[in-house]
Amino acid sequence: MQTTVDQAWRTFRQRFVAETPKSRELTERAQAVLPGGSTRTVGWFAPYPMVFERGSGPYLFDADGRRYIDMFCNGLSLIHGHAYPPVVEVAERVLRSGTAWPGTSRSQIAFAELLAQRIPTHGLVRFANTGTEASMLAVKLARAFTGRRSILKSWAGYHGSYDVLEAGLHGQGEDPGRARLGVFNDLDSFRRAFAEHGDEIAAVILESVMYTGVVIAAEPEFLSGVQELAHQHGALFILDDCLMFRLAEGGSAQYYGVEADLTMLGKFIGGGTPVGAVVGRPDIIGQLDPNRPDRIYHGGSFNGNVLGTACGAVAVRDLTAAVIDAMDRRAQHIRTALESAAAQRGLPMVTTGIGSAFGAYLSATVPSPIGPREDIGMSRLFHLAAIRRGVLIGDGNEFALSSVVDDAVADEVVDRLVAALDDVAEELSR
Ligand SMILES: Cc1ncc(COP(=O)(O)O)c(C=O)c1O
Repeated sequence: MQTTVDQAWRTFRQRFVAETPKSRELTERAQAVLPGGSTRTVGWFAPYPMVFERGSGPYLFDADGRRYIDMFCNGLSLIHGHAYPPVVEVAERVLRSGTAWPGTSRSQIAFAELLAQRIPTHGLVRFANTGTEASMLAVKLARAFTGRRSILKSWAGYHGSYDVLEAGLHGQGEDPGRARLGVFNDLDSFRRAFAEHGDEIAAVILESVMYTGVVIAAEPEFLSGVQELAHQHGALFILDDCLMFRLAEGGSAQYYGVEADLTMLGKFIGGGTPVGAVVGRPDIIGQLDPNRPDRIYHGGSFNGNVLGTACGAVAVRDLTAAVIDAMDRRAQHIRTALESAAAQRGLPMVTTGIGSAFGAYLSATVPSPIGPREDIGMSRLFHLAAIRRGVLIGDGNEFALSSVVDDAVADEVVDRLVAALDDVAEELSR
């Protein structure tokens, strides 16, 4: 079977190469100046990702003029699709008045007010430029507040491209003195980590739904259980809501009923421009107050820049409960349709996740997020089949809806993905 799967993938790959000559040519040119023709590990897949020319609403268009329904949204960093008109309007205005000033701006204040209102248990907001920078800042704040160095996180939990938080990823284990690991949804493993290393742990950082790799949602009592453990041991509880702020107007904290000490935000809160933020308890974020003699240094020429905060405020403002409900409903429709279409074709399929973000794996059981993925051959086949049928999904078979995927677009996604499943079934039966 595996040989068949590999052979089928080679066939799909040949067809993909034949169908994307301009992307291939541009990739070859890129390889002379960018490592492997790429500037980012996420989003790369073999033989090469398409070179895009333009995005509009739910669609992306590549250099060969092919159209894709975007179900990955730049790693969940676009909540209202591409070139969202209200954001474009604000961006055009801001570009004429200057995009980055030292000091505070009206749009920075208004955006901070909006975020503080969305996560009402918190008081203060500090801007950065990406989710990775928000991670770095949250770690810095937690270390200074507690006087401890280690961060406890989950195996396979992704929090950006920051070495401290890469423990448990890319073949790396614990990094004593800097990072400790527990198993997501296994409260006992976190209990053990605290029992053994409690004195050194400054904070626990968790997502509510692990997304990059295999999508796994936290079980109801897991987050609150870890939060309680952290507080019992004098550590902070940090929620990485860079992706899952989409679950409710107040993000994962509202959805799961937890109160984090700090919340990391990024991705779509910039309305398509790079913005990161840490929102949190005034006594923790207040360590950055420049009036304090013992203030913590945190620079960043573009922190809270005018373009990002003005565009971000529009994106967050327009992510209302009604919009979230509609995205969640359409995601459920796609998941159900995919599962039944796969079953009709005798293909294994399991979907995981909650709300508008999910994973769909050609596997009878949910793949383990830790260690080699047994479904990888089949899921990789489906990934390339989906792309050839005009639906862009994450290379780990992650999906996310944006608000501009309406009922008609969602139906088209289903039709195209069912055709991709047909391609897979047909190729495997040869
Ligand atoms: C949960 C989570 N946190 C943080 C980040 C880092 O965000 P950025 O890529 O903007 O640095 C990511 C990126 O995928 C993420 O998935």
